[in-house]
Amino acid sequence: MASRYPSAWLDDLRSRSEIVQVVSGYVSLKKSGRNYWGLCPFHGEKTASFSVDPEHQLYYCFGCKNGGDVIHFITEIERCSFHEAVELLADRAHLPVPELVNDEDYERRRSRRERLLQANTEAARFYHETLFQPAGASSLAYLRSRGLSDSVIRKFGLGAAPDEWSSLTDHLIAKGYTLEELSSVGLTLVKQPGEDGGQLRYFDMFRNRAIFPIIDMYKNVIAFGGRSLGKQMPKYMNTSDTPVFNKRKGVYAANLLRQQRHLDRVILVEGYMDVVALTQFGIPGVCATLGTALTEEQARLLRRFAPEVYLAYDGDSAGQHAILRGLDILQQEGIPAKVLDFPDGLDPDEFIRRDGADAFYALPALSATAYRLRRLKETYDLSDAEGRMKYARAAMQLLVAADPVERATYMKTIQVETGFSLDVLQQQFESLPSSPSSPAPPLPKKLPRPWEDQTVPPEHSARETLLSLLATGQIPKDMVEEKDFESDELKSLYVRLIAGESPASMVNDAPDDETRSRYTRILLSPVAESTDQMISMATQCLSRIRRSAYQKQYDALQQQIKSLDPADPAIPALLMEAQDVQGKLDKLK
Ligand code: UTP
Ligand code: MN
Repeated sequence: MASRYPSAWLDDLRSRSEIVQVVSGYVSLKKSGRNYWGLCPFHGEKTASFSVDPEHQLYYCFGCKNGGDVIHFITEIERCSFHEAVELLADRAHLPVPELVNDEDYERRRSRRERLLQANTEAARFYHETLFQPAGASSLAYLRSRGLSDSVIRKFGLGAAPDEWSSLTDHLIAKGYTLEELSSVGLTLVKQPGEDGGQLRYFDMFRNRAIFPIIDMYKNVIAFGGRSLGKQMPKYMNTSDTPVFNKRKGVYAANLLRQQRHLDRVILVEGYMDVVALTQFGIPGVCATLGTALTEEQARLLRRFAPEVYLAYDGDSAGQHAILRGLDILQQEGIPAKVLDFPDGLDPDEFIRRDGADAFYALPALSATAYRLRRLKETYDLSDAEGRMKYARAAMQLLVAADPVERATYMKTIQVETGFSLDVLQQQFESLPSSPSSPAPPLPKKLPRPWEDQTVPPEHSARETLLSLLATGQIPKDMVEEKDFESDELKSLYVRLIAGESPASMVNDAPDDETRSRYTRILLSPVAESTDQMISMATQCLSRIRRSAYQKQYDALQQQIKSLDPADPAIPALLMEAQDVQGKLDKLK
């Protein structure tokens, strides 16, 4: 599994797939300073924050933080797997694709995560196969009773956890997975032997449930949801956070979203069943949060798939409340949003089964302001003068966050609803301080540009700047030592750079998107005109790093001396040491 293309061949492929040329095939780029800039193809934007670094052969968007090497760019823009991207680039470069080799170093770095993901994949396969066997008959009957077709069951890879204590765990142990691995991905519950000498016991986490595998956009099976087959509680069980799963970051059906191109909108629902049902009825772009309220991370993820998000939460009061919070999050992230409001307290699954796809398409999509106003109106009694007054005041407050055209439209509505004239409403509006309660419209993000900010950043990023300088190969390697990098992550990047690995290859090996994005940001070419300037920047970074290290050492010695009895025989030596450190500090100043 941990076999890969020979890294020298990948380097060759990268060098023949010049990143500026490849990216230019998709994005129009302009040169500015040493880098190229354009509008990010992965999120909607009006000012360019997408950069391509020809020296280190990396791309990075300062807006959405998508970044990596040329191969990763292809996987993102073509929405394909790593292997498909490699084949596509190799084909364009007329380079024959070699056989995969085993690379031990790579295996060590990556095998834990890969093994855990593989365990999940094997589990998903087991559950799915079981669904069509006697042990899965009750789950299959349940899913069919919910109206699911065999084809949608296969599309989502739904499965059955048998009504047995440990059939999945036994199956995976036989395949070579350890109890430790299975328990850390949440498939198995392990009971350690008690003090009374009981035995070690283990159980499958999911038993007698219909299984919804949660698959990320790279087709990794990262977690599971399990539906009870009737009224048993809890209705759903979900994998808790694990080394390969964070429920705040993913959405259900991300794998299918990524395959659908040119979506006008993503439809966000609350439940697994809603996603499956809407998809069965042919509605595109549906996904769900994983039993939590919408988070900022999820909002940013959705922005990659479509320019707009429709919130299609349940028609019950919890769902309605979640919509208001979801709208705030989306507004804060600058993502246009609308609301689909389901009648009669139905959820999307119930609605589409009752009224059909045409009725679903015919549902009015409310703007955020229209939805907020509607909800506001329900809280006042408009048959009463007092109620109308309070509603008018609150509504004006709400319109502070709306744009002028929207505001004009809704003022008229409020005029009709409350009987106050437009003049009075306008006066009320103008008397308001700019609203503190409504979330502020998103500020344009300040983006680092090559011609700005030539100063060396604060200490922790001095280490990152130093790495990017080292990556240029233009500063003497012996200037820097491993101990100049505090964290294990930066140390390992340093060691790999010194060993001659290219930034693009390091970025390519990152275990997940977040790490890849961070490595890319760290390894982007530094903003410097000449080798001399790079050396002087490195000197500044080093003096900052070392000064703070010596200062810490000095403070610790002082602390130690203070804590001792004045007559302690260790003191003279400590004083000498402190003086020595002080001397080094002075030299750096
Ligand atoms: P719902 O109860 O609305 O789910 O919870 P649903 O999809 O309509 O369920 P069905 O139609 O009765 O099968 C919405 C989501 O909240 C999470 C699940 O992710 C679910 O899909 N949830 C709900 C849980 O995690 N645990 C629960 O016990 C209930
Ligand atoms: Mn439901």
